[in-house]
Amino acid sequence: MVQIQPSPQRTGGDQFTIKWPSRKFSGLRGKGKSLIWSLAMAGSTGVFAEIIDGDVFKYYADGEWKKSSSGKSVAIINPTTRKTQYKVQACTQEEVNKVMEIAKSAQKLWAKTPLWKRAELLHKAAAILKEHKAPIAECLVKEIAKPAKDAVTEVVRSGDLVSYCAEEGVRILGEGKFLVSDSFPGNERTKYCLTSKIPLGVVLAIPPFNYPVNLAVSKIAPALIAGNSLVLKPPTQGAVAALHMVHCFHLAGFPKGLISCVTGKGSEIGDFLTMHPAVNCISFTGGDTGIAISKKAGMIPLQMELGGKDACIVLEDADLDLVAANIVKGGFSYSGQRCTAVKVVLVMESIADTLVGKVKAKVAKLTVGPPENDCDITPVVSESSANFIEGLVMDAKQKGATFCQEYKREGNLIWPLLLDNVRPDMRIAWEEPFGPVLPVIRISSVEEGIHHCNASNFGLQGCVFTADINKAMLISDAMETGTVQINSAPARGPDHFPFQGLKDSGIGSQGITNSITMMTKIKSTVINLPTPSYTMG
Ligand code: G3H
Repeated sequence: MVQIQPSPQRTGGDQFTIKWPSRKFSGLRGKGKSLIWSLAMAGSTGVFAEIIDGDVFKYYADGEWKKSSSGKSVAIINPTTRKTQYKVQACTQEEVNKVMEIAKSAQKLWAKTPLWKRAELLHKAAAILKEHKAPIAECLVKEIAKPAKDAVTEVVRSGDLVSYCAEEGVRILGEGKFLVSDSFPGNERTKYCLTSKIPLGVVLAIPPFNYPVNLAVSKIAPALIAGNSLVLKPPTQGAVAALHMVHCFHLAGFPKGLISCVTGKGSEIGDFLTMHPAVNCISFTGGDTGIAISKKAGMIPLQMELGGKDACIVLEDADLDLVAANIVKGGFSYSGQRCTAVKVVLVMESIADTLVGKVKAKVAKLTVGPPENDCDITPVVSESSANFIEGLVMDAKQKGATFCQEYKREGNLIWPLLLDNVRPDMRIAWEEPFGPVLPVIRISSVEEGIHHCNASNFGLQGCVFTADINKAMLISDAMETGTVQINSAPARGPDHFPFQGLKDSGIGSQGITNSITMMTKIKSTVINLPTPSYTMG
């Protein structure tokens, strides 16, 4: 395997545009090295200075930035350079215990804080988050190789999510139900039931590496507006962006201990967190670890999104230019590292050649290179991820798939690859590559496409392309997925839409409104009258 070596810019002529930084960072000594250090830490100056100690980012507990008593740190490897970019504290189980204890008592006071005041603080945090989008986005570029513009978009989208959540919380938590007893057989009107939504207690939020800011705030904001306290365990890749985001909440002035962020090795504090008796709710996004968590978590509400194998069914009457554009955007944005990426194309045989040709032409225009240059295809998050993707590609090659491009990999960077004539006996027909590799299966009937979609153990989203809305509705009903998009690639957003997976794709529904509701429980107060209330007068 060739290691990624930044080299002078090389554009044009090739099938792909390759742009690398003009400076080679590794191997420098003395002054050069300190320059690298200040560049690497550029996001941690100014208002963020207090979140780092030496070269290790602190964790956040009791309203303060702290060093772990473990004296140990966890390295975060830059997917592009494959060198250590940042370090975070390796928190201990004792520190987790302390965080939980404080979260419990902070929540009691927070639940008594007026709803409008909770909303006000969330609006403030959203504004601070957006104000500091540049340094946070820089962390996303370095930690998870998110293309520069997408990294900024993630932070801005997160600010908008927090604000919308504040507004929605004020609306839906300000309302309850009023029921009277005589609508149920055998009852007189002697009971008035008042219901309202009350917080659960301590919410544990575990977001994934691919949206360490956005999928953190999509858990934090609903939890807080609903009156819960929040403990965040960020993914290791993405932890520093998450710590910066948490600091924006700190700057907004939330009460001490209400929000905490513990970093460290999953092997040391993962199970300890998810099985902690103080935790009243877990919101998790990630892989099949979620299934293991759900088995251990105990009797608490769980919200989980665990990936997908989103199918794109293309009928003969579809607008193939629209389809091709959506396949490329849906399949290759952020190098396919999205739960909602198009992960298998199921196209009618009669139009397959034309569609594959159009997709191929668009794939050829994708830029490949480092996230700093805002390339379309950037290195995947880790070497093990790249190896896994390569395993799927090699399996398909061995079993006779048609490669529409030459397979190419340098370090964690995998060039976009469309695999045509994929058959169900190939691993890539079923497994989620989480990389820029997209299989095409040619189908002879719509039923065959639906069957393939439903035979998957995943059921997150799917999409269907056709000019016939009646057919689209029938297919949507037949597809066993949490969402079906008609004439567009799968996507979670806009962030107030319900977002849920069936089967191994998860439990519970997300989206702002559903998350707020999920992070509350119903409390009833019943007024019992000595005589039926309608007997007077
Ligand atoms: O990766 C999982 C995300 O929930 C997908 O979100 O559709 O906005 O990329 P997205």
